[in-house]
Amino acid sequence: MELPKEIVERVNQLEEKYSSMGQSLESYLDGLLLSNYLTYWDYTQVDTLLTLQNPKTDFPDELIFIIYHQITELYFKLSLHEFNQIANNGRHIKPNGHDLGWKNSLDVKFFTERVVRINRYFEALTKSFDIMVDGMEREQFLRYRMALLPASGFQSAQYRMIEISATDFFNLVDKDVRPQFEGKQASIEEMFPFIYWNKGATELATGKKTLTLEQFEKKYSEKFMALANEYKTKNLWAKYKALSQQDQQNPQLINALKELDVNVNVNWPLMHYKSAVRYLNQGQDDVPATGGTNWQKYLPPRFQKRIFYPELWSAEEKENWGKGWVETNVFRTR
Ligand code: HEM
Repeated sequence: MELPKEIVERVNQLEEKYSSMGQSLESYLDGLLLSNYLTYWDYTQVDTLLTLQNPKTDFPDELIFIIYHQITELYFKLSLHEFNQIANNGRHIKPNGHDLGWKNSLDVKFFTERVVRINRYFEALTKSFDIMVDGMEREQFLRYRMALLPASGFQSAQYRMIEISATDFFNLVDKDVRPQFEGKQASIEEMFPFIYWNKGATELATGKKTLTLEQFEKKYSEKFMALANEYKTKNLWAKYKALSQQDQQNPQLINALKELDVNVNVNWPLMHYKSAVRYLNQGQDDVPATGGTNWQKYLPPRFQKRIFYPELWSAEEKENWGKGWVETNVFRTR
């Protein structure tokens, strides 16, 4: 039987692919003959996925809390996937990767589209955050959370990796300490002890680092510093500044970057803050958070003033960062 030309072409291509790596196409074809058909459940690993929800108590609403955190982490993973491609000029670097002949340059269209994707993921998260704010019984939440001490979303490593991938590390230094590093070209190791999030993990009573932070540092500090060093020249802002002058003026790209700044540093944090207010705020005597922190002073973006792209905002916009939205969106519904 004569094989169709398209098949012969593919076989030749496969021969080339395997022989270039010193592999035998014949053996791989044997593997193909023996391998099973792919199913939805194997591909998506749905059975494994559905074993990953293990509440610590029997309160039914705890399942919502776990699953929504997991959904968030998956969107964070997608966001990091886009950051990774921008950082690596359109390639997603994988150690066992097979070269698809994919691009190795960063044009403004690709750059913008990837930033828009990250915006979409964060918008999906912000819009769905009502699942947390309104979707659980407060009485149940206040009971089952006691079984989760001292764990906190504060310990989400991907959230910090997104920040490190998005901006110059300097912008993540606590805003009160930042002037001391201004124009100094300080190393990541010098700046890391002053990272903004330490402020959110100080014990109200003693001013000491919380256990939540100590455990987080033990597990991730090295990794964060390594990533920050790697991303010195590959973070989103560095990649933007490496574009031509003309591309840097691209209005769609500038808009996408500004939206990213607001999505990650204002909109998501405010929706998240709204959930803390809903469950933990009791007028004068707030319920302490599981991480035992000063969350009321720490979480609102107007206090943190975390801004990834300060050069893209006017002095007034920076001054009013995160204000306004709070009054209308967080407290109006209470
Ligand atoms: C009822 C829902 C929630 C409440 C009441 C809540 C409460 C809090 C509080 C009080 C903090 C401050 C640190 C601490 O004392 O623990 C915090 C931090 C944090 N939480 Fe949540 N949280 C909720 C849901 C979530 C979800 C679904 C995520 C998704 C991963 C998340 C991620 C974070 C992150 C990333 C921080 C650190 C924020 C920063 O450093 O600016 N939280 N949360």
